[in-house]
Amino acid sequence: MYTITFQPSGIKIKVEEGTTILEAANEAGIGIDAPCGGKGTCGKCKVYLNKGQLNDVSAAERKNLTVDEINAGCRLACKAIVHGHCVIDVPEESLLGEQKILIEGAETEIRIDPLVRYFSVVLPTPTLEDNKCDHHRLEDAIRKVSGYESIDMDLSTLRELPNLIRDNKYDISISMFRNRAMNIYKSQYRDLYGAAVDIGTTTMVAYIMNMTTGEIVGIGSMMNPQIPYGDDLMARISYSFQQDKLKRLQGVVVDGVNKIISEGCNKAGITISDISEVTIVGNTAMHHIFLGIYPKYLSLAPYCPAVQQAIDCRPSEIGLNTNPAGNCHVLPVVAGFVGADHLAVILSCDIHNRDEMTLAIDVGTNGEIVLGNKDGMICCSAAAGPALEGSCITYGMRAADGAIERVNIKKGSLKVDYKTINNSRPLGICGSGIIDLVAEMLKTAVIDVTGRIREELEDGNERIREGDRGYEFVVEWARKTKQKKDIVITANDLREVQLAKAAMYAGTSILMEKQGITVKDIDRVMIAGAFGSYIDVENAMTIGLFPEVPLEKVKSVGNAAGTGARMSLISKEKRDEEKEILRKLKYVELATHSTFQDQFVDAMNMPHKDLSLFPRVMKNVSAPIPKQ
Ligand code: FES
Repeated sequence: MYTITFQPSGIKIKVEEGTTILEAANEAGIGIDAPCGGKGTCGKCKVYLNKGQLNDVSAAERKNLTVDEINAGCRLACKAIVHGHCVIDVPEESLLGEQKILIEGAETEIRIDPLVRYFSVVLPTPTLEDNKCDHHRLEDAIRKVSGYESIDMDLSTLRELPNLIRDNKYDISISMFRNRAMNIYKSQYRDLYGAAVDIGTTTMVAYIMNMTTGEIVGIGSMMNPQIPYGDDLMARISYSFQQDKLKRLQGVVVDGVNKIISEGCNKAGITISDISEVTIVGNTAMHHIFLGIYPKYLSLAPYCPAVQQAIDCRPSEIGLNTNPAGNCHVLPVVAGFVGADHLAVILSCDIHNRDEMTLAIDVGTNGEIVLGNKDGMICCSAAAGPALEGSCITYGMRAADGAIERVNIKKGSLKVDYKTINNSRPLGICGSGIIDLVAEMLKTAVIDVTGRIREELEDGNERIREGDRGYEFVVEWARKTKQKKDIVITANDLREVQLAKAAMYAGTSILMEKQGITVKDIDRVMIAGAFGSYIDVENAMTIGLFPEVPLEKVKSVGNAAGTGARMSLISKEKRDEEKEILRKLKYVELATHSTFQDQFVDAMNMPHKDLSLFPRVMKNVSAPIPKQ
């Protein structure tokens, strides 16, 4: 065993010969950014060997690191293998920053009518003439107030029943999930609590709710603890191909859910065992991994999920520490690429009940899009890729401390004004900053409608220059940045953004075509998710991420998936509507749609008033196939 000491934290861990530095860091609880899941392709997991012995520099490292970096001892943590005691310096830019976590959501009024209920009853005292069993005595009393014909009772509750009813002189209260007894108490009114949990690929949020009043009484949140196993879902699915690794991924996510529920409960002054029911939403891969269902086939054509309908199970079957006689309700998924989180968005935006033609978009690595109304809805998943979340962009990063989130470029001088998260020194650019930057570059004619950086401006402005990989635009100079390097956006980065926005736009176009409508017929555009809450919608339209509709029709609905999970928790009616949504919703597979490729190529250009002036210049562009 060798000791690895991580600096500057000073955390030490003992590992076996052959362990990678990334594995050692994960074990030690040091979050190193590993977007490619350790494949050696993203180049983000840089660390420095301060002392000790590692393997020789690999081919993947030579490809991703500069000669100067290698000479300075820089290694990719995922490719650096331990051969002795080591001291490893972890630079700040390689650490996972705490991401902004979106916890607010669209509020819609609903009737509070949870499936968990509370009844107070006075039982008739038994006599020699009426000596039926305690269970039947309770059942008879509950039948009159609840309408349930029978009561299911766990052995553990049954063991407590005889004393409980006699100690409390036959005056008792009972909490029930449907017709299952959860707790029996001395008769006295109590509030019931539940948790609605949104498991995102990057972040997780738990809303603790008073199920009687419908109030949120506490919130817990954290980064998804699966991130060290890969930033994107594909990396996590590949990791879970072996059963023991699936168990590990499931274990870390369930532990995380227990943690955020406990955090929310602490704030509410209750304990996790007071939680009677939990509702869960997440994309299809998160859904499968949380339930411990083998997710491999989600990543292989034809991308079938193992199950579509909602799952109800005991918390202990999953490993949740909530009331063991309570319930865990996992909302239904729509398809391999459209998960329970999107169904929850539809539920919270009430698309399935309304006349208005609604377009709801959740931008992410796979942008989920739905278009429709009460007469029918169509949805798809557009393979936007990670560009709009800051991955695969040279200076892209998550929405964390130091990320440039707003950009403005002055016409003529091309001076860049920007705002960073927490007003820190800039470290990189997050999704909302990338959209602003590209839109501003278009408005100030730094790029043309094809997304090409206009090299002809190079002479007049030092921000436009030729770099190692073609032309680039300097957003901020090294002297002002955290990592003392110029923050730039390259021609390649622009191409990635164009691929992402073209996929989203083409997806929307196909849904409109299927519904037989044009942009003018859209009554509402709901933009869900963290991304939707932070982007400048006008700039998003400028680059052609969304169809151009009047701004007053557009609404950011925040964490609409979380809102849907909360609705399902406190309303039986909304729970029933989950099935209705599935019935009214059709899924379109974009990859096999006949016009998708053409629509995608058309959408690569930035929108312009007269597109006919600009020929379809994007040659050899293929529409990406969605990936989990
Ligand atoms: S290169 Fe190491 S995690 Fe991507």
